[in-house]
Amino acid sequence: MSTQHPPIVHTVAALREAVAGWRARRESVGLVPTMGALHAGHRALMRAARARNSRVVVSIFVNPKQFGPNEDFAAYPRPEGADLAVLAEEAADLAFMPGVEEVYPPGFTTTVAVAGLTEGLCGAHRPGHFDGVATVVAKLLIQTAPDSAYFGEKDYQQLQIVKRLARDLDIPVEIVGVPIVREADGLALSSRNVYLSAEERRIAPALYAALRETAAAVAVDPHRAGAILTTAIASLGKAGLRVEYLELRDAASLAPFSGDLSRPARLLAAVHLGRTRLIDNVPVPPG
Ligand code: PAJ
Repeated sequence: MSTQHPPIVHTVAALREAVAGWRARRESVGLVPTMGALHAGHRALMRAARARNSRVVVSIFVNPKQFGPNEDFAAYPRPEGADLAVLAEEAADLAFMPGVEEVYPPGFTTTVAVAGLTEGLCGAHRPGHFDGVATVVAKLLIQTAPDSAYFGEKDYQQLQIVKRLARDLDIPVEIVGVPIVREADGLALSSRNVYLSAEERRIAPALYAALRETAAAVAVDPHRAGAILTTAIASLGKAGLRVEYLELRDAASLAPFSGDLSRPARLLAAVHLGRTRLIDNVPVPPG
């Protein structure tokens, strides 16, 4: 297909001008924030936006503030041509691709920090990561002023943090969560899956398999959750996945699981496979 990619803007001023034109015609605007290296998970967000909004803006910005000093900021994939082809296929209306200086000009000193929600799970293992995410997402929401913005359940903690920051800062936007898109063997799509060797790629689906099995076991016997998780961590280790965390949380507040399934719960994990860090999560079906 040789569909043309949408117009690209690199500045906040140009983004606002495009959105203002749509607003003047009373068109609704959806925003899909991404770091590029677009795959079917990102496409699902664009389709969700397309279903509810007449205009779809996709931002592509590899945000330096959310990478730790020993993380993969420099190596993060940036396949611009392929990304623009995806935007063309998904009929996005605008690509917002700011440079680092546009987002963080000299003298930039503000941080958006969402207390509580950012503290455990990925927050415990990636210091500063969620401050970087919250700061850039707050900026993107203020810059674009969309009616709705779309985030994947793949980054489940991030989704809850974004909902909270929009609410706390009175940003008038609906935050829409989109279910995880998976490969046929269950592996959640991620821009970082390209880092997996063939052998690691073969092992990787064990994470989702273990999450599903564990969630089902907890649903049957929630009071044995502790023992069930301990067993799951050991068997993931045997499969070759080093567990960073495997935890049950309240699905909305992310508070530690109370043992009571009358409120929705979520099972979340991060594992290391070679040099790649994988995250995934599943709902715990009510018993
Ligand atoms: P990125 O990793 O590019 O992801 C962009 C969005 O796509 C996120 O909301 C993420 O949850 C969603 N996504 C990724 N893989 C998915 C999958 N397999 N199924 C469903 N959705 C998926 O997340 C970020 O970028 C950044 O932190 C960002 C929010 C853009 C702020 O910099």
